[in-house]
Amino acid sequence: MPDFRPDEFFLVTGASSGIGEGVALLLNQSGAAVIAAGRSEARLESLREKAAAPGHIHPEVKDLADDLDRLPDWVLGLKNKYGKLKGLIHCAGVTLTEPVNMVTYAGAVELFNLDYFVPVLLAKGFADRRVNVGEGASMTFIASLAAVRPDKGQGLYGGAKAALINTMLVLAKELAPRRIRVNCLSPALVMTPMGRQFVTELTSAEEQHNRYPLGLGQAADVAALAVFLSGAQARWITGQNYILDGGLT
Ligand SMILES: NC(=O)c1ccc[n+]([C@@H]2O[C@H](COP(=O)([O-])OP(=O)(O)OC[C@H]3O[C@@H](n4cnc5c(N)ncnc54)[C@H](OP(=O)(O)O)[C@@H]3O)[C@@H](O)[C@H]2O)c1
Repeated sequence: MPDFRPDEFFLVTGASSGIGEGVALLLNQSGAAVIAAGRSEARLESLREKAAAPGHIHPEVKDLADDLDRLPDWVLGLKNKYGKLKGLIHCAGVTLTEPVNMVTYAGAVELFNLDYFVPVLLAKGFADRRVNVGEGASMTFIASLAAVRPDKGQGLYGGAKAALINTMLVLAKELAPRRIRVNCLSPALVMTPMGRQFVTELTSAEEQHNRYPLGLGQAADVAALAVFLSGAQARWITGQNYILDGGLT
């Protein structure tokens, strides 16, 4: 795992639950300062209680879907509060499982707002020269296996995540001259609150378990790669979308 300094600040969205919580805890354990964003103040507080260095977790209560136009300014505000940012690991997201013939425009807009427009506008904010540390800065976005191998019911969700991957691969090219790296991770089923809800409502744990030769994913499995990609050893890696699927057949 990379070693970070406590003056290296990472913005982690979705830090109040699941994959984002795993990322925040691992970054913290690796020595970094974490700006932990989520909507639930109570869950951000409980993240701090679990952290190896609680003093280096900085909770920021924020509904990312609120006033999208001003999201880049929110990121600039974080820089003004904490100093220049070393990394952004965007884990906040929502899922939707519904057949295409059930799609409504309002539902599609809500999903695309959080799973596509929010990360794009956060990336715009982070890419601002006033905000990031320049060479060595990085962004990592949690997409989904549904972006590349969608199942029935994942038409919209997979579509939003596919759009996210595409835009981030372009951004990687645009930011490479400044030595800022951009990557995506595309996990299959991970046993977070979101993953457990999927299992409970739509399938069964046994059915899912049988599909995964290496077992179901855990938040820490995704966090490990996200944190590696944020460190100096990943200096030559950009514009990638990594699939983490436990050998899913
Ligand atoms: N779990 C899986 O099987 C799986 C598989 C592939 C990809 N993913 C992706 O991985 C990412 C993380 O998922 P997860 O499994 O960790 O889900 P999770 O446990 O449900 O966590 C979702 C996180 O997103 C935050 N969030 C949701 N809406 C928000 C909003 N409007 N503003 C700010 N924060 C918001 C939540 O914050 P609050 O709790 O504070 O509201 C929470 O921290 C998502 O993008 C998801 O699509 C998950």
